[in-house]
Amino acid sequence: MNNKKTIITYGTYDMLHIGHMKLLERAKALGDYLIVGVTDENYDRSRGKLNVVESTKKRVKAIEALDFVDKVIIETHKNQKAEDMVKYDVDIFAIGDDWVGAFDYLNEYTHVEYLARTEGISSTKLRKENFSTIKMGLAGLGRDTQAFIAEAQFVSNVKINRIYDEDFLALKAFTKGNDEIAYGHDNYDEFLDTSIQAVYIDTSLEQHYILIKKALEAGKHVLCENPLALGKNELKELLSIAKKEKRVLLTALKTAFLPAFNQLLKELETGVIGEIKEVRATRTSLYLEKDYSNEFIAQGATNILSSYPSLLIHKVLGKCKEIKFFDQKESGYDISNLIISRHKGGSLGVARVATGIKSEGDAVISGTRGYIYIPAPWWLTKKFYVRFEDEHKSQTFNYEFEGDGLRYMIAEFTSLIQRGNRKSKKLSPSDMVAINRVLLDYNESNKDKIKTKNKKER
Ligand code: CTP
Repeated sequence: MNNKKTIITYGTYDMLHIGHMKLLERAKALGDYLIVGVTDENYDRSRGKLNVVESTKKRVKAIEALDFVDKVIIETHKNQKAEDMVKYDVDIFAIGDDWVGAFDYLNEYTHVEYLARTEGISSTKLRKENFSTIKMGLAGLGRDTQAFIAEAQFVSNVKINRIYDEDFLALKAFTKGNDEIAYGHDNYDEFLDTSIQAVYIDTSLEQHYILIKKALEAGKHVLCENPLALGKNELKELLSIAKKEKRVLLTALKTAFLPAFNQLLKELETGVIGEIKEVRATRTSLYLEKDYSNEFIAQGATNILSSYPSLLIHKVLGKCKEIKFFDQKESGYDISNLIISRHKGGSLGVARVATGIKSEGDAVISGTRGYIYIPAPWWLTKKFYVRFEDEHKSQTFNYEFEGDGLRYMIAEFTSLIQRGNRKSKKLSPSDMVAINRVLLDYNESNKDKIKTKNKKER
């Protein structure tokens, strides 16, 4: 008979400190074999912990290096604790007494023990002491400006205190109504010449390139609404400036940073639906992009919306080998586009975008064993279903989130800055280039047909 007593405990263990070590030592002293569950970054974000500095890998390594820890596992989802109790035949679940009562429900599976927490130390305190708050400025009074400010309040390591817009009166009205944003600038160079370390750009599409370039050259980290650039090689140029200046340049494609979206990619990696043969995604909007320019090139459904389906298709199917466009035009603009792409192994991407036509904004990923269905609006991924012919085997994944999802993107951006890491795994520079290429290819194929439009009435 095995008399070995197994203890399990969980935590984020960001910036491993003496409080963590003492807790783990005490936990080990309760038995013979200590399992530590380190929370995955994606799971932490889904439960609202947005400011963790170290990556999951780094935190796992630090715990693995401790003598009194026998096994390290990663906690990825809400009900995992109960599953682990059974899986590892756990005798004691131990946790700091800041959690008293919260895990009593686990008494059904094992004995729950709350251990004294060490006073005067925490990861939160260390983060505050070691990392200063990132000062951020907003460029452009866009549709999402207010939402961005509201969502940034949930990310503890950032403070937005300046805004730039060329429209002085609009700026004045905005800063008057916003206590936190004390400074408004109608001159971009002056705005950049302040102590802000990072810029979020949400202006008309065709201004993105030049505003990003100036910001990077002024030494600022940049988060910019998509698409980052509309001209050939412009994005590559911007990325090489970011590299030279050692600055983060990230596309504000919020879908890429949502916990459910990342969980979906993880599920696919396990091969759950077999070999993936097709990805189909629709994104339509009745909203017409505010027309700041007289250039048709900056408008149209493809330029405004294609980055979303391109993200899903690229993340799942990888590099695109061939691409075809079937568009519908009105007054020189593409009001819709059906974009069909061929990828590795012959798999197909089918993206449908439209402005001014409404359709079901869902997505389906089809494999040789089953499929994943993401209901509308799939780009605000919360729920997805893994389905098989035998419906009893089907699974539902649910990652509800508060707000409109911007906070995960802001958290990724600021934690890249804090970690001194330029590249996001969730949306790497090469992902950004691949996504941007789809609309560049479309613009290129349309070059001769482009008419310069006169300024539309607002
Ligand atoms: N812990 C402890 N003493 C401390 C801090 C943490 O005993 N001073 C324990 C917690 O009770 C938990 C484990 O260490 O059982 C992991 O906690 P974690 O939440 O990762 O650490 P914190 O420092 O509390 O992190 P944060 O400030 O981000 O909440």
